Amino acid sequence: MNIIKSQQKHTIFGRFAVGPNIIFLPQGPHWKAQRSFTIRYSTQPTNTDPDKVVDSTSIDVHSIMTRWTLDAIGIAGFDKNSEWVTRYHNIMQASSNPVFHIFPFLENPRLRFLFPSRKMVHHELDLFLAKMQEIITHKREILNNNKLATNKRTNEKDLLTLMLESAKEGNDKLTDEELLSNICGFFVAGHDTTANALSYIMYNLATHPKVQEKVREEANQVLGNQPVDVLPTMEQIKEMPYTQMVIKETLRLNVVAETIVPRKVTEDTDLGGVLIKKGAQVQLDIMGTHRNPKIWNNPDSFDPERFAPGGEAEKVAKMGNGWVPFSNGARMCIGLNFSLTEQRVFIPMLLRKYELSLPDNSIHKDKAIFSGIGQFVPVDLQINMKKRY
Ligand code: HEM
Repeated sequence: MNIIKSQQKHTIFGRFAVGPNIIFLPQGPHWKAQRSFTIRYSTQPTNTDPDKVVDSTSIDVHSIMTRWTLDAIGIAGFDKNSEWVTRYHNIMQASSNPVFHIFPFLENPRLRFLFPSRKMVHHELDLFLAKMQEIITHKREILNNNKLATNKRTNEKDLLTLMLESAKEGNDKLTDEELLSNICGFFVAGHDTTANALSYIMYNLATHPKVQEKVREEANQVLGNQPVDVLPTMEQIKEMPYTQMVIKETLRLNVVAETIVPRKVTEDTDLGGVLIKKGAQVQLDIMGTHRNPKIWNNPDSFDPERFAPGGEAEKVAKMGNGWVPFSNGARMCIGLNFSLTEQRVFIPMLLRKYELSLPDNSIHKDKAIFSGIGQFVPVDLQINMKKRY
């Protein structure tokens, strides 16, 4: 995410998710300033109700999870049939077109006339960015005029509200352009990743009924087993360690975001007897690490017990960075706590209310099939949802 070449600035992805001075991009002091303002709200819980999104017995998991995580980052007003959701999906789909990934110069505005359908997506993107700006302006007006909205407790505010509040505070004030870039960046980094993670968790639970039952029992023990929806508090979330184990194992087995994390070596380093010279470009392969049989036993199997106290994951952690879905170091994911909290709220609520299973004709019967560049999305994943109350 942090190496975006200048020729990519005209691409769909470059225009949407990078923009000027977005947090992913700058190095040095400017990045530090942006990161220090954003990190303050990355631990806020969401209060979105997962029940709102499930409206049939068999659901297209990824598209529904995407809508839910959009709500959670607060750039809502995007109801499920909204033209903006469709437009956003078209833009994201176009952004992962391999031809323009390999030859980004083809998207130079002077060459776009050669690709009318691509030109159309750029027009859709213009509309989308204008809409985002409108949402920002509208939210700002609400915050300026409505004392009730600003007086809410921090953990009741959505991410957009917190970003707007942070943007006008302190020495690191953001320009409108920077704010829009950051919001778009968070839009991409903040909801598709978690939507992918939730989709894979639902898949792993649907294909491992005993694990599913254990997560449900834990949820009922903590939240009660009456036939009513209960929104877990932060304290209750902490009382559900097995759910956390399932989330961690899913993030090990199913890499949902970047798998290749690039770094430049800042000093000569001895890595297990291999000298890596200062200035060298190196890459961490997250998926390769998570599926490495020298690090994990039977790495291709789904087994949440690895993350039990005293289990395999603790031994792996003593050896080094064997579990790194959010990367590590100064540039590791800023949304780690936000995403984990979303997942820890969603899963217990969902399982108290629904039993999950895979349709007999699922293409994912033997293993999860995914596609994507930069993000790994399960392909056409349908899950049966049987209501429990
Ligand atoms: C399961 C969910 C997620 C996963 C697996 C994930 C993974 C990652 C990874 C691997 C990186 C690259 C870090 C590096 O270069 O070392 C990253 C960066 C980033 N992520 Fe996430 N992410 C997730 C959710 C989120 C959420 C919910 C947000 C925001 C609300 C977010 C915001 C960011 C930002 C802003 C960066 C760039 C940080 C920087 O360069 O300083 N991510 N993420």
